[in-house]
Amino acid sequence: MEQTELATAAQRVEPTSAPKIHAEGVSVYYGDKKAIDHVSIDVHTEHVTAFIGPSGCGKSTFLRALNRMNDTIASARVEGVIELDGEDIYNSGMDVVQLRARVGMVFQKPNPFPKSIYENIAYGPRIHGLAQGKGELDAIVEKSLQRAGLWEEVKDRLEESGTALSGGQQQRLCIARAIAVDPEVILMDEPCSALDPIATAKIEELIDELRGRYAIVIVTHSMQQAARVSQRTAFFHLGNLVEYGHTSDIFTNPREQKTQDYITGRYG
Ligand SMILES: Nc1ncnc2c1ncn2[C@@H]1O[C@H](COP(=O)(O)OP(=O)(O)O)[C@@H](O)[C@H]1O
Ligand SMILES: [Mg+2]
Repeated sequence: MEQTELATAAQRVEPTSAPKIHAEGVSVYYGDKKAIDHVSIDVHTEHVTAFIGPSGCGKSTFLRALNRMNDTIASARVEGVIELDGEDIYNSGMDVVQLRARVGMVFQKPNPFPKSIYENIAYGPRIHGLAQGKGELDAIVEKSLQRAGLWEEVKDRLEESGTALSGGQQQRLCIARAIAVDPEVILMDEPCSALDPIATAKIEELIDELRGRYAIVIVTHSMQQAARVSQRTAFFHLGNLVEYGHTSDIFTNPREQKTQDYITGRYG
């Protein structure tokens, strides 16, 4: 795709409220190695924010910092401030299980639990006490699958294993699982990279629909995908946030030479 085509695909949307996530001067280390260097960024509801940049530049590392998934990596250390609705998520009083329900995550490789389709969705709401009884739980399962665009395909086989679904269906199941606990933010780390073009198109459509309700952050190595699904794009390079702005500006009129070089395919 040409640069101009990339740009015309992207809509300009202005934030209507305070940022959902505010990150200020965030650095992430693995042992002595700095993987993210002093990154500041705001993420908004009703926006899809794309993180782009060459492999190894820190996109996944920074994404994981946004819901404290880096806590699970022994050598990882996060500096700086990350606020969710103004509250520091790294403060000692933060309930990390609760945080990860509010800031859900979808991974590169679909990872449904080896349980029924129903259980994949019901598990989270049950442990978070979101349903009073079976009827309410059923309703959450149905609503979540509907929002993830999967209900019609699975409603007659909810007791079958989630792992028996196709790759694209599994990824929508994982999105439904994230939705089921009523998140505010959904983080997606290259959610389509294991999917074929048709399944990818479905996920992209879904992301656009979900945007109205959640703040969505998607890491993608595809600039076409960033242009198709996002309103904001952040370009990372060697652990730095080089440039962040409207997706249409990043792809047509970047401020930084490094961004220009990347989007025109000079390195990557
Ligand atoms: N668990 C880890 N332990 C040590 N180093 C890591 C770990 N995960 C990532 N890194 C390093 O951090 C840097 C950024 O990686 P990553 O965030 O995965 O980049 P990207 O998602 O942009 O490809 C790379 O140099 C990578 O090797
Ligand atoms: Mg990555």
